[in-house]
Amino acid sequence: MKLKKYLYKKVQSTNNTAIRLINKGYKKGAILTECQSKGRGRHVNKWISRKGNLFMSLFFEINNKLSLKKITKLNIAIIKKIISKKVKSKVSIKLPNDILIDKKKVCGILQEIIFKNNIKFLIVGIGINIFNSPNVNKYETTYLNNYSKKKINKIKLFKEINLKYEKNINFFKK
Ligand code: BTN
Repeated sequence: MKLKKYLYKKVQSTNNTAIRLINKGYKKGAILTECQSKGRGRHVNKWISRKGNLFMSLFFEINNKLSLKKITKLNIAIIKKIISKKVKSKVSIKLPNDILIDKKKVCGILQEIIFKNNIKFLIVGIGINIFNSPNVNKYETTYLNNYSKKKINKIKLFKEINLKYEKNINFFKK
C-alpha cells in the first residue's frame, strides 16, 4: 500500500499536520518537513528540531483491536532495523520509544492514536538526529553522521522508512 508523500518547508509539528490531514478526511500519508517550530516529544516534552535532522510522521488506519504494546514493538523494530544498517556501532532500544547508539539517543518516536468516523488511525512521528544533536539535560544524545562513513541523505532515509512501512503495513491491520 503506497503512502502519499507530503513535503513541507516548515510546520509546527509533523504529528499535528497528520492530525489535521486525518480530520480533513485523508486516509494515509507520509509527511516530511525541513523545520518544526513546535516539535513535540513524549510526555509533553519538546523535541528540539535542529535543521538538517529528520522530522517525519506517517499516518494510516490500523486494526481497532491492536494493542499499544504491539504497535510500539512494531514501530521500534522497523526503525531500529533501518538505523542498524547505517552504522557499525551498537544500536539499542530504550523502551518504549527511543533508539540509542552507544547508549546515546539518536531517535525518538511519538505514537499517537486518533479516531475519525469510528476508524482508528495511527500517527508515527519519527525524529532522527542526522547532522547534529541537541543538548538535553536528561540524557545523552548523538547523531547518525557521527557513526556513518557515508553521509546520510535525509530524503533517501525518509523514502527508505516509507518503503519499510508500505511493506509492513499489514502487520498493523491484523
Ligand atoms: C520522544 O523521544 O520524546 C519522541 C520524539 C518524537 C519527535 C518527532 S519529530 C517528528 C514528529 N513531530 C513531532 O512533533 N514529534 C515527532
